[in-house]
Amino acid sequence: MELVFRPRRLRRSETLRKMVRETHLRREDFIYPMFVAPGQGVRQAVEAMPGVFRLSVDQLVKEAREIRDLGLPALLLFGLPQKKDETGSEAASPKGAVQQAVRRLKKEVPELLVITDVCMCAYTSHGHCGLIHQGEVDNDASLEALAQAALSHAEAGADMVAPSDMMDGRVGAIREVLDERGFEMVPIMSYAVKYASAFYGPFREAAECAPSFGDRRAYQMDPANAREAMKEAALDVEEGADILMVKPALPYLDIISQVAAEFDLPIAAYQVSGEYSMIKAAAQMGWLDENAVMLESLTAIKRAGADLILTYFAKQAARISTK
Ligand code: PBG
Repeated sequence: MELVFRPRRLRRSETLRKMVRETHLRREDFIYPMFVAPGQGVRQAVEAMPGVFRLSVDQLVKEAREIRDLGLPALLLFGLPQKKDETGSEAASPKGAVQQAVRRLKKEVPELLVITDVCMCAYTSHGHCGLIHQGEVDNDASLEALAQAALSHAEAGADMVAPSDMMDGRVGAIREVLDERGFEMVPIMSYAVKYASAFYGPFREAAECAPSFGDRRAYQMDPANAREAMKEAALDVEEGADILMVKPALPYLDIISQVAAEFDLPIAAYQVSGEYSMIKAAAQMGWLDENAVMLESLTAIKRAGADLILTYFAKQAARISTK
């Protein structure tokens, strides 16, 4: 047998493998999602997400220093309100946990980029991502509330806003209000392609945002659809999105790859709570090597075309082997 090419030649040593490796994870690729709660001295474990906590502003700032020292560039803030109501009025309050956290972070850890999640679901008593009118999430009535929330984040000093609600037209509505108020340099990272996914289960415990009736399938995307993802992304580009996100990540690598091939903007992918907790749970059972599976899944997400990865593993990944 005369083999002309033997792919194994380049796999013989770690040095060679490193030399021909196509995908590299860097600390700068990661964005660390965090949960801010009202109060003082709060550090509450999220049971379904081992290693994740709800933190009050004072605790969050402490942890933010650690995040910066690990070489991570950015965090994404989710807020919990003091009190929920029908219209989610605390979402845009300058005294809200997110707004306070942003002000403190920009003062005390200014190098860290602060991105805020813009959505109504943690703030509304019904837990939906917009406002309810006659038993349904009213798209256009929700836009103003979302834009006001985004504006309050920008006024607090947020470096970037990230709408995750999936209302039609919200990127344009947010861009317009930000521009009017002098925040034309604040970028929008749009959750452009967000599926109605059961992988968000553990997050809903963390953010206390499970809907009290129905589900999110009337605004988040059907997991079976790929062409629709291109349409969603195209709309957000037209409305002025600066970064396009696909979410979840690992079960949707084909979508990440298609969006990255089609659009010129930076692509982000969100390794969501369920993806994280599955790995954690299997590792706790002794069934998987946690760090190896973590790095393999992050590498796969990057290989598919993500420039940025939102992941609860950000600190853990920054601590090991990435450069
Ligand atoms: C809010 C929001 C959700 C997530 C991010 N923003 C939950 C949802 O849409 O139900 C999920 C994040 C995760 O699972 O880690 N709209």
